[in-house]
Amino acid sequence: MYILGIETSCDETAVSVLEIVNNKVTVLSNIISSQLAIHKKYGGVVPELAARKHTENIIPIIDEAIKTASQNLNKIQNPKFKIQNYIDAVAVTSGPGLVTSLMVGVETAKTLAWSWQVPLIPVNHLDGHISANFIPHDREEIKKIKFPALCLLVSGGHTELVLMQKIGDYKIIGETQDDAVGEAFDKIAKMIGVEYPGGPNVARLAQQGKKGVFKLPRPMIATDDFDFSLSGLKSAVHRIIFVQKKLSLIDKKNICAEFQQAVIDVLIKKTILAGEKNRVKTIMIAGGVSANIELRTQLAEKIKQDLPKVDFLIPDLKYCTDNGTMIAMAGYLKYQKKMKPYNLEAIEINPNLSVTAHKP
Ligand code: KG4
Ligand code: ZN
Repeated sequence: MYILGIETSCDETAVSVLEIVNNKVTVLSNIISSQLAIHKKYGGVVPELAARKHTENIIPIIDEAIKTASQNLNKIQNPKFKIQNYIDAVAVTSGPGLVTSLMVGVETAKTLAWSWQVPLIPVNHLDGHISANFIPHDREEIKKIKFPALCLLVSGGHTELVLMQKIGDYKIIGETQDDAVGEAFDKIAKMIGVEYPGGPNVARLAQQGKKGVFKLPRPMIATDDFDFSLSGLKSAVHRIIFVQKKLSLIDKKNICAEFQQAVIDVLIKKTILAGEKNRVKTIMIAGGVSANIELRTQLAEKIKQDLPKVDFLIPDLKYCTDNGTMIAMAGYLKYQKKMKPYNLEAIEINPNLSVTAHKP
């Protein structure tokens, strides 16, 4: 089957086409139009501008995703194949996210599903991030997961430890009490004068800096729950800036290195603790911050050392931050469960949708 995935929950207009035959997946297109240049000057995403840009972008990006998918298929089979005549289902992010941005994706997806007369599958954005872990290499089978599994979900808006009994049966066993990890990276970046988006830029500076030159706390590292708190790190960095008065580039690099390590230490400690206590067979990470190389490497090493029997999954780097492929993948998994066809009118956006709301 062919499934088209649409993602517009924040500042990326993203559309993908997946081919799935006998459980084997080929990503025929993965088109992402980022609004980074627009929001950069404001130091964060401006919701109204984001929605306006999605409205401008959505049709051209769908066209491009369809065109690229057709071209990729034409290389391997029928040269006259027009994929838009063969799409079997449309999947779209229906929440959580920015309300007006979600609207653009969902209303467009409804129109497509209606005109193509195919089912429309609403997808939870967080479920999409988790599903990025199941995307195999092209023409390979969807990755099989040993359950129970644990997902460290770290994005710009969420920081959660999700216990998974099976696909779609998710429970949040720990979460941040204040800022999300991505949000903390973005805020620290702003404080020390590093361009938006903070995550990748702080990670890049951290690579050139030295941990321990400035000392930062590891909030809640010793508590035996699975919760996190990141806002205290902001105050600690604030104090460093206050004492230093002016930050040199070396200072900035050293702050980034220590900040990144403080966050990673807490994330790893709680993930291992939750994995042990719940006797999970698989640990995975998801969300934009799962693109952080240090987090990926250090967590992999720690699991190998402390939980050698546990499988560790990480999404391919291109599927860590927002994209349409993860939405198409999550949509397919719901579709495969043979749920009732969705009534287009009943599909609603929910800006506060929880990861636990996904029921196949
Ligand atoms: O999942 P995502 O693309 O959007 C949301 O659903 O929120 O995550 C975006 C977040 C941003 O806060 C960004 O700064 C962070 O992920 N991020 C990173 C890295 N790449 C993106 N944080 C740390 N290191 C990275 N390499
Ligand atoms: Zn996201």
